[in-house]
Amino acid sequence: MVENFKKLKETLTKFGQEHLLLKYNEMTDSEKKQLIDQISDIDFELISKLYENTKKDVEYSDDKIEPISYVDKANLTEEEKQNYSEIGEKIIKEKKLGFITMAGGQGTRLGHNGPKGTFPLIGEKTLFELICDTLKKNNNIYNVTIPWYIMTSKENNDETINFFEKKNYFNYPKEAIFFFKQGELPMVNEEGKILLDKNGFVKEAADGHGGIFEALYQSNLLDDMKSRGLEWLFISGIDNPLVKMVDPIFIGLTIKNNCLIAGKSLVKSKPEEKVGVFCKRNGRPSVIEYTEITDEMSKMRDEKGELLYGEAHVIMNMFNIKALEMLAKNKLPYHSAHKKAEYINEKGELVTPTEPNAYKFESFIFDSFSNLDNMLIMRVKREEEFAPVKNAKGEDSPETARKLFNDYQKNN
Ligand code: UD1
Repeated sequence: MVENFKKLKETLTKFGQEHLLLKYNEMTDSEKKQLIDQISDIDFELISKLYENTKKDVEYSDDKIEPISYVDKANLTEEEKQNYSEIGEKIIKEKKLGFITMAGGQGTRLGHNGPKGTFPLIGEKTLFELICDTLKKNNNIYNVTIPWYIMTSKENNDETINFFEKKNYFNYPKEAIFFFKQGELPMVNEEGKILLDKNGFVKEAADGHGGIFEALYQSNLLDDMKSRGLEWLFISGIDNPLVKMVDPIFIGLTIKNNCLIAGKSLVKSKPEEKVGVFCKRNGRPSVIEYTEITDEMSKMRDEKGELLYGEAHVIMNMFNIKALEMLAKNKLPYHSAHKKAEYINEKGELVTPTEPNAYKFESFIFDSFSNLDNMLIMRVKREEEFAPVKNAKGEDSPETARKLFNDYQKNN
């Protein structure tokens, strides 16, 4: 024990992170253990590398970026639709489709107190319930119970599960709902020092939805999926109540094109829209995130006047179980985000910043795409499948999403 502690101190000194023990002497034995466990789990090499990367600009100059080809669902003939549908319906009826909702984000922009899925959008109906309604509707159509996997974070896991308990799982079969937690990484300040939270523990933040593959593996859910005979997993975020996760044409098209992953796209409404776009990067499927695309690239148009990088990625993707297994073994790159984070300073005082003061590191699910040679992309209609709830007010707010959702319900 003493030996281990000595080693740990040496590591902290080596990486200039000795301050992590600031509150150690004031802690109870169990708190001490908790802190030591946290510190022992940190990959300091990785954190210092990620911090160094924050000083560099994101560069695409070495990458060859090109537009990616896609299938426009609206251009399929009736016969094609029929054929793809039949293939997809067979998969659904044979209980080979599962659904994953990624709900580990903090939803800070929305300003809702609680997990984002617990936000009431339509009357009392929350985002979780609206998504559940769509699943239930499809279960009835195909006479199945689609397993629903929900990714939470350490921060919102208990609250999320309690919410489902309180709502009696929206009368969805409880045994078909599974929760699993994504990972976390420490946050660092602008000098690369790892932050301590108000209780003197390491300040950690969810490691982005790219952590999903490892989290599925770690929680043994990949094995569970396999034992249930699942072959395809539709994965989306929590913030789109119009998500169409059971889409036989999409499944059929993916299978017919021999792809192990697929994504639905929609036409980016304007160059500034805050959506990532599908592209080919060095010949492989990829997404350029809206925070990383250059102004020039976002405005480029083709000969028809359409945005050259205009196939918006809206986190509506589908993975074959084989792809999930393969990706669970791969590490994805991390992106950094400059954020406001409360912390205690070297005097042990709590500091609440008014400006971004720290970096959070996240990996993105879409960075996994380039591990595969091909990906099927199907363009769908925005008004049928996308009603994002992101901000408290203005664009992509509850108000705009409610209108989009209600308009869709009226017409269908
Ligand atoms: C996201 C996409 C963007 C896409 C847009 C469309 C990312 C990084 N970008 O942007 O390409 O065009 O949606 O709506 O996702 N989440 C987790 N764990 C995390 C972080 C996020 O589960 O650690 C979940 C959130 O709960 C949410 C979804 O992922 O459901 C999207 O995350 P968010 O950070 O809100 O992404 P956007 O900036 O909206």
